[in-house]
Amino acid sequence: MGLVVRPCSRTRCLEKGDMHFLHTGITNESGDCLAALYRLGRPMNANVKTLFPRRDEVYDSIVDLIPGPDNPTPMVRVGARFNSNADFELLVKLEGMNPFGSIKDRTAHFMLKNLQLDNGQSLVEPSAGNTGIALAALANAQGIPIEIAVPDGAPEEKKAQLRFLGAELIEVEDELCPIYPSEGARGVVKSMVESAAYRGKYVSPNQYESELNVAAHYCTTGPEIWRQTGGDIDYFFAGIGTGGTITGVGRYLKERNPNIKIIGVEPALRHHRLSGLKRVTGLPEEHFPKILDRDVIDEFVSVTDDEAFEAGIRIARSDGMLVGPTTGAALHAATEWGAAHRGTAVVISGDNAAKYASAYADYL
Ligand SMILES: Cc1ncc(COP(=O)(O)O)c(C=O)c1O
Repeated sequence: MGLVVRPCSRTRCLEKGDMHFLHTGITNESGDCLAALYRLGRPMNANVKTLFPRRDEVYDSIVDLIPGPDNPTPMVRVGARFNSNADFELLVKLEGMNPFGSIKDRTAHFMLKNLQLDNGQSLVEPSAGNTGIALAALANAQGIPIEIAVPDGAPEEKKAQLRFLGAELIEVEDELCPIYPSEGARGVVKSMVESAAYRGKYVSPNQYESELNVAAHYCTTGPEIWRQTGGDIDYFFAGIGTGGTITGVGRYLKERNPNIKIIGVEPALRHHRLSGLKRVTGLPEEHFPKILDRDVIDEFVSVTDDEAFEAGIRIARSDGMLVGPTTGAALHAATEWGAAHRGTAVVISGDNAAKYASAYADYL
């Protein structure tokens, strides 16, 4: 026999006759509310301790919020107002929901979790923003000092977040998309790590060369996508920066099903405003990202700044998703693809719109 209850005007309160109950929010696997109600006005301690014997929803550290197969970032289906291709399902994996705001939380976590620093040592990393923010937050959580070399063209919002986290910023005259490994921010970090003058003070996790960057996505992002889609995935779209995301996820998905097509999204021009991405087509071999495995990529698609920013604005207005311009780039590539293909595509949304307010303003 179900309880005959009806909602009362108070939040989470249910009314039965003249009694009021707090709705505990406990549901079964189908999402139906279980009759686990407890009466308001009674001493609650005993009840709550019986109902929730472990403090399940309290994390020991912000670091525990970093996703993995058992606590994945959300995946959301794009609606028909944005995606008019009825035979093409478009799913977006929202990496902006990570605790420090981007897909780089995974990379930073994998690179730091087994890294031991000696007393007096500091971390240093070149980053246009997201990796730096994730590393700085994680370093703070571990009490490690950190310096970040940022290209002066990095978005102001990202630099502000790094300062807010207390990271020492080394602003380097540099393009957003410099040539690896000697120029600009990367060159500065390389010399800080290698120069005898610093006597081994600096340690760089080096996302551009670390296989842990690939492992982060092979062990977490890839398995999450496989589980969330129930293996029902035909295409995977991700932007290319260091190549860690597409290599790790692509490798994992291809091992599960070699027919899945892996599509790399890159800026149409070498000079662009898609912070975090790199144009790899046409790069000489010595400058090609070291950890990017070309064998897992079936196609490269180029997207202009205008196409990316406009798609980022369109998805906000059609679906209420607040995503960064690199997501706009991947969404643009995927919708074009969907006009000629059928099946299910997963698109990586690397971060959210908040850090790009001033860049988006130019398109509003
Ligand atoms: C904001 C952002 N940064 C970076 C990347 C690429 O990351 P990676 O360095 O792993 O290639 C993406 C990919 O989608 C992204 O959206």
